[in-house]
Amino acid sequence: MRLLITGATGLVGSRLVEQCLANGHQVHYLSTRSSQLDRFEKAQGFMWNPLEGTIDINCFEGVDTVINLAGSSISKPWTKKNRKLILESRIKSLETLRKGIQSLDNHSIKSFLTASAIGIYKEDYNNKLKEVNTEVADDFLGSVVHAWEQEANLFTELGLDPIILRIGLVLSSQGGVLPSLLAPIKASVGVVFGNGDQWQSWIHIDDLVQIILFLSQKNERGIFNAVAPNPVRQKELVRSIAKALNKKIILFRMPKLIVKLLFGERSGLLINSHCISASKIKKTDYQYSFATLGQALDHIVS
Ligand SMILES: NC(=O)c1ccc[n+]([C@@H]2O[C@H](COP(=O)([O-])OP(=O)(O)OC[C@H]3O[C@@H](n4cnc5c(N)ncnc54)[C@H](OP(=O)(O)O)[C@@H]3O)[C@@H](O)[C@H]2O)c1
Repeated sequence: MRLLITGATGLVGSRLVEQCLANGHQVHYLSTRSSQLDRFEKAQGFMWNPLEGTIDINCFEGVDTVINLAGSSISKPWTKKNRKLILESRIKSLETLRKGIQSLDNHSIKSFLTASAIGIYKEDYNNKLKEVNTEVADDFLGSVVHAWEQEANLFTELGLDPIILRIGLVLSSQGGVLPSLLAPIKASVGVVFGNGDQWQSWIHIDDLVQIILFLSQKNERGIFNAVAPNPVRQKELVRSIAKALNKKIILFRMPKLIVKLLFGERSGLLINSHCISASKIKKTDYQYSFATLGQALDHIVS
């Protein structure tokens, strides 16, 4: 396989590149930063600037699989400027890729997969949310992810029906949410936001990377939730991390009102409840390496 990966320098992308190279695949990747073009010894980097609509079309040479993970981080404060960047970086990345492919006389691309996020779902305490659920969260994140998926669907015009991966909370020792949760727990303090009963739908980064490769190679199409089959409530997440670290903790509850005052609309990332179903992925016969939180945390923490 020869893959073209965007967002390859990020948390998920860099793990994906390593895995592709270890599997003997060839990797092309796009970066907005010239300093990153030599980042991977055995992968070939190309420049693009989605906000300006520019792309080095040599990146498509011999590529059969395109994986799109690009997007400005949502973890920084949601100022007006950052909100624009969070939305536009995602929409324009897809648009620049699509127009790049459209401009080629011919190409060898057979499979196209793009990241999406479980933030598209309206929060729900009682039901497992499946891909067929069409209700979109009526907040900033919901509108961003909805627009992102609509843009991805335009790839059907190229004959490339997309695989859309609604990714949950990615667990990794290298970044994302886990390192910030580990720090206070190491000091014997556990913090939950609100009552801590909200569902958290997580996935180990290695399972996410394997799912990306599995679905691309199987030539699947359509929307898939990329989450482990065993979501947990937030207080269980914190207690499980403490257990994996072998730490006794005092659990503090930060009232919802305080979370909202501190984080504004971004508080939704901490207090919204999403119990996401993994049944569609399981039906593809994908075998999880880390199906339970205990397995995932033992692996990451060790
Ligand atoms: N991590 C999670 O828990 C999670 C959960 C749900 C969904 N997702 C989605 O999955 C994807 C990968 O996540 P991640 O955690 O690996 O993200 P990440 O670490 O923030 O990396 C994203 C990559 O996007 C590129 N990027 C940043 N700003 C850009 C811009 N303005 N235009 C084009 N590219 C830009 C960067 O690559 P260059 O600087 O090299 O261009 C960066 O390495 C993201 O789209 C994210 O929204 C992640």
